[in-house]
Amino acid sequence: MSDQHAILTLGDEILRLNIVNGTEGPGTIDIAPLYKQTGLFTRDPGFLSTASCNSQITYIDGDAGILRYRGYPIEQLAEHASFLEVAYLLIHGELPTRVEFAEFEHVITNHTMLKEGLFRFFEGFHYDAHPMAMMVGVVGSLSAFYHDTIDIHNPEHRIRNAYRLIAKMPTIAAAAYKHNAGELVIYPNNQVSYIGNMLRMMFATHCEPYQIDPLAEKALNLLFILHADHEQNASTSTVRLVGSSGANPFACISAGIASLWGPAHGGANEAVLNMLNQIGSVDKISEYIARAKDKDDPFRLMGFGHRVYKNYDPRAKIIRDVCYAVLEQSADANNPLFELALRLEEIALNDDYFIARNLYPNVDFYSGIIYRALNIPENMFTAMFAVARTAGWVSHWIEMLEDPEHRIGRPRQLYQGAQQRVYQPVSQRS
Ligand code: ACO
Repeated sequence: MSDQHAILTLGDEILRLNIVNGTEGPGTIDIAPLYKQTGLFTRDPGFLSTASCNSQITYIDGDAGILRYRGYPIEQLAEHASFLEVAYLLIHGELPTRVEFAEFEHVITNHTMLKEGLFRFFEGFHYDAHPMAMMVGVVGSLSAFYHDTIDIHNPEHRIRNAYRLIAKMPTIAAAAYKHNAGELVIYPNNQVSYIGNMLRMMFATHCEPYQIDPLAEKALNLLFILHADHEQNASTSTVRLVGSSGANPFACISAGIASLWGPAHGGANEAVLNMLNQIGSVDKISEYIARAKDKDDPFRLMGFGHRVYKNYDPRAKIIRDVCYAVLEQSADANNPLFELALRLEEIALNDDYFIARNLYPNVDFYSGIIYRALNIPENMFTAMFAVARTAGWVSHWIEMLEDPEHRIGRPRQLYQGAQQRVYQPVSQRS
């Protein structure tokens, strides 16, 4: 706690509010005692100026375009690390030693299986159910299978379920994909890498041998690292809020998946591809840019803008470069959508409307193009994101439960409804 403070004057009353600083980034005015002392709440729809918790996991400087996991710049992790190494880092705060990593990788790749009953859940879904709809249901249902080890006050149970979730998410996402494809599920193979297994479970069939494409594995590893965490975004805050009531981890992550699905959040990668398909050709770009600027038109340039980044999203920069590499080596070499995306970005970045509002491409602007080049269908994009973000969600869930300050998340409101009135029976209402 620093000895700095802010002064709030309310009529004759002067209130000193402590300023609490972090290790980096903006400090906070601690308003927790405000209501008790003044009878007033603060009001901040959409949390524009509110830090909802303390966290040591991820640091973002949106103006400078900086993203770090546990202090490590995203560019270094993207270049050198594996997704599982990053997952370990997010959960435990330090990069694993060689021995720790071997053990972690072994545990994760040996908990990939689902109970057979869970696989049968998929049969009940409509043939074209959205993968995210299936994932919300199936992940939530895991609590019905592991109810004997979900004591959230037990640190060993917490870690066990965090690992379980990371291990089983690819199997669940791939089973959702197979359901849509009308194919038999492929069970996980514990001898294969985490990312390779994900590709195998999606694209292998029971009638032919399957070779994991090293370029696809590399690209997916990178996308998963970039998507692994992003501090208190909508889905992570959802996980924390649900978890704050003491709910079990599977229910929390299922709620996170539901939140991620929205097109303003993780659903944007699917929406970007739909938008690019809708625009169709370079000569139509100006028409869509005009629509995005028109306040009477609900159309927004998907994959553009971010609540925190008022500069180029560092993840988008990395993905854009990888896009070239993946497309060059894939059958999608002359992908017209990539050309279209590059041109759209160029036009938008030179347009006064986008410049004035600091609207830059975000992580989702290019990720969909890579997923498509890897033959992953549009409706699976957000499901892939959910698999990767599980590492971040479980890390935040554990951090919250270990925080001695944590209590149930219960925001207040500014009531603007009717004042007290008298009930009239329906027979007397005209
Ligand atoms: N296209 C056109 N205009 C936009 C866009 C966009 N994509 N994004 C923001 N704006 C405009 C708004 O209309 C607003 O203009 P105004 O000041 O004239 O009213 C201004 O920019 C600020 O926008 P807000 O909506 O206030 O910004 P906010 O921080 O609330 O929203 C969000 C951020 C939701 C990401 C928004 O930029 C958006 O909808 N983008 C498209 C969806 C998207 O790509 N989401 C993915 C985000 S990354 C992720 O979740 C992984």
